Amino acid sequence: MRLILLGPPGAGKGTQADLVAAQYNIPKLSTGDMLRAEVASGSSLGKELQAVMSSGALVSDDIMIALIRARIVREDCAKGFILDGFPRTVGQAQALDEMLTDIGCPLNAVIELAVQDDALVARISGRYACAQCGAGYHDRFKKPVTDGVCDLCGSTQFSRRADDSVETVTKRLTNYHAQTAPLLPYYQRTGLLKSLDGMAPIHEVTAQLLSALKAAEAA
Ligand code: AP5
Repeated sequence: MRLILLGPPGAGKGTQADLVAAQYNIPKLSTGDMLRAEVASGSSLGKELQAVMSSGALVSDDIMIALIRARIVREDCAKGFILDGFPRTVGQAQALDEMLTDIGCPLNAVIELAVQDDALVARISGRYACAQCGAGYHDRFKKPVTDGVCDLCGSTQFSRRADDSVETVTKRLTNYHAQTAPLLPYYQRTGLLKSLDGMAPIHEVTAQLLSALKAAEAA
């Protein structure tokens, strides 16, 4: 399964990508996570990336394309992968098409998680993650089973993303509409795009998604 999850910041791409990755036993390739790892390394590139990300802008296509080009040829992607956060511009989508043609592995599906803008700010401002294993939670929509304890690893330490302030989220949303939304007609033309109701509760979005993937596999 080679899948792209598209949608604005806070649409639920990461949440759903984790669930599909477990179901299909394939890796989630989250460009946001890759960039945050580089920032955390303290490298000079990481410092440049941090400045761009905290302003709510996009990192350059050249950097992003090189990152994904190196990642999708790794062994663990042989059975497939889920792209979460890439492509984000038409230039990145065109480069991805070329990469997949080169390795002879076409996409199976492009899924849009459609969510209204006003719901996104609430989702993002309530989001937090386990500082130990990275499992994602939400103050209202996805609490750990035991308050203050990670369901997956038992850690009691949590963190919030630096770019999840209301001000930065608003800029990220503006950039989404200007630079990433044009990917919807781009993938519509390929016949691979399916839009799901991302406003539904998490488990219902997962059910819609798994059913769309079954249909894509059968096609
Ligand atoms: P990135 O990390 O990719 O952020 P994003 O796309 O803005 O998406 P988010 O991670 O904020 O949201 P999500 O859709 O994954 O939602 P989640 O599942 O967490 O990118 C960060 C930055 O890196 C970018 O701004 C840019 O600077 C740079 N970057 C990354 N990729 C790039 C690229 N290709 N090119 C250039 N720059 C790039 O859900 C959000 C919250 O809502 C969670 O708390 C969750 O529990 C909750 N939730 C999820 N689904 C539901 C639901 N159905 N109902 C209720 N709550 C829900």
